[in-house]
Amino acid sequence: KLPGEHVYKGVLFFGYSPPGALDAVKDLQVREDDVFIVTYPKAGTTWLQEILWLIMHDGDFARATSTPVYLRSPFIEFKDDVLGEDGLDLANKIDSPRVLKTHLQHSFMPMETNKKNCKIVVLFRNPKDVCTSYFHFYRSSSSFGQFKGTWPDFLDMFLAGHVDHGSWFDFTASWWQQRNRDNVYLMYYEHLKENTLAELEKLAQFVGKGQLSTDLLSHIAEHCSFGQMKTNPMTNHLDVYSINSHISPLLRKGEIGDWRTQFTVEQDEIFNRVYAEKLGHLDIPFQYRPTE
Ligand code: PPS
Repeated sequence: KLPGEHVYKGVLFFGYSPPGALDAVKDLQVREDDVFIVTYPKAGTTWLQEILWLIMHDGDFARATSTPVYLRSPFIEFKDDVLGEDGLDLANKIDSPRVLKTHLQHSFMPMETNKKNCKIVVLFRNPKDVCTSYFHFYRSSSSFGQFKGTWPDFLDMFLAGHVDHGSWFDFTASWWQQRNRDNVYLMYYEHLKENTLAELEKLAQFVGKGQLSTDLLSHIAEHCSFGQMKTNPMTNHLDVYSINSHISPLLRKGEIGDWRTQFTVEQDEIFNRVYAEKLGHLDIPFQYRPTE
């Protein structure tokens, strides 16, 4: 057990998402023009936040290059008493259209998201890359005491769902069930990486922005490339006190298939077995290899 962890309605959370904040999220007043970004941690959330914020704000690069992305796009279940930061307060204060970030399973979402016609964009990523990225984040983040365990320890925790925001398998199953709702749009990190412009075009259509100009879409894609976001102080999180970027920065590699440098053959087989048992029946089209 790591310091600060607690279980809320059967799911593991850390001190930055206390029970009171999770209760309050359920009652968030949702606006019809809200866009929720729903991801399991490390699926490419920050990337999609920057993309969607720019799409929703008609390419306001002046603001995007002067205000950190986490202040433009609040993380609704985030609360830090030391900093006095509260994602829900921020969400209640900012102007529409809001681009709100969450890592919650479907049943933990603000209740009004099931009634109002807000938009929900769900981003999935190959779970082996998620797990690899999460391990490095656990090592660098003070929320997890800069995790001192080994990679095999972390892999066991991930497969057991004993990590922040709970089981990747439960999260994924809960959102897979929602994918056919009119206001839910499911995307994949790998498609976004390999075919950025086409994915941005579809995303803009989904959020009601229609056909954006090729110039604007190209500008957004370029501004949101891994290299640009890694050097941009408004997106790279080098200023976030809880992340020790010397251990591992939030924008670490940004690649498809980095899990191959992390997993042994045996660990890959174990992962495949657990995946088959828990989610195999759903046939979710994840890319397990860069070439697939
Ligand atoms: S968080 O803290 O859960 O919101 O983290 P999240 O942003 O979801 O995940 C971080 C991983 O996303 C990668 N990333 C990107 N990949 C490609 N292009 C861009 N622009 C980009 N921005 C962030 C980031 O590098 C982390 O993945 P890894 O594999 O660790 O590099």
